[in-house]
Amino acid sequence: MRKPFIAGNWKMNLERKTALALVHQLRDHLANRDTVDVAVFPPFVYVEEIARTLKGTKIAVGAQNCCDEPHGAFTGEISAAQLVDVGATHVLLGHSERRHVYGESDALVNRKVHAALDKGLAVILCVGETLEQRQGKQTEKVIGAQLTLGLQGISARDLLKITIAYEPVWAIGTGKVATSKQAGEAHAYLRGVLGGLFTESLADQTRIQYGGSVKPDNVKELLAVRDVDGALVGGASLKAETFLPLLGGR
Ligand code: 13P
Repeated sequence: MRKPFIAGNWKMNLERKTALALVHQLRDHLANRDTVDVAVFPPFVYVEEIARTLKGTKIAVGAQNCCDEPHGAFTGEISAAQLVDVGATHVLLGHSERRHVYGESDALVNRKVHAALDKGLAVILCVGETLEQRQGKQTEKVIGAQLTLGLQGISARDLLKITIAYEPVWAIGTGKVATSKQAGEAHAYLRGVLGGLFTESLADQTRIQYGGSVKPDNVKELLAVRDVDGALVGGASLKAETFLPLLGGR
């Protein structure tokens, strides 16, 4: 049985004061919650303070990206080791905004996955098709390739540290959530690909989150879908009033 995993990707939102106020509320309500795994992904500059604030709770803290290189002349980048150093345990990789706004390729995402795992970070690897690709019936081809290339060279043992997030690009920040059928088909397909790349048993143990306009009023339906093991949440993760209700969804 896969334990649900709900993660909040804050993207480039909140500032120190509002970020801390939010994590204090989460801490007060969730400190010992054990029925669902919870993680928050603040902007880099707040990771250290938020990790310190949430230390000793069951809420994990991660970064939204990391460099594929361990150190050196990479202006503006942050390494996996630096993230571990400030208390992060997780990192989000291959988010569609990284892929589509900043041009990250599958090969780069794969190098980042290796760099993060090398330093002991747990990874959420995001995949998802654009509207055009869905309309062109390319969904499986696109997400299958993103998954396969993103996981190239990953050992079975390392897969246990990876969560997959299926985030259809057309559902991100648009209020257009995937239907249960659409989510169910994509998740089942991804699990099948995992089974082919590794083993069925490992595929069964791997959590696949859904992301894209997850809100308190649709979370229950999404989490009821077979193969949907949690959610990666953007907008609704920025306020306790909308994030906390997501955690009692199953
Ligand atoms: P929204 O929940 O705001 O649609 O964002 C989803 C997302 O991109 C999470 O990574």
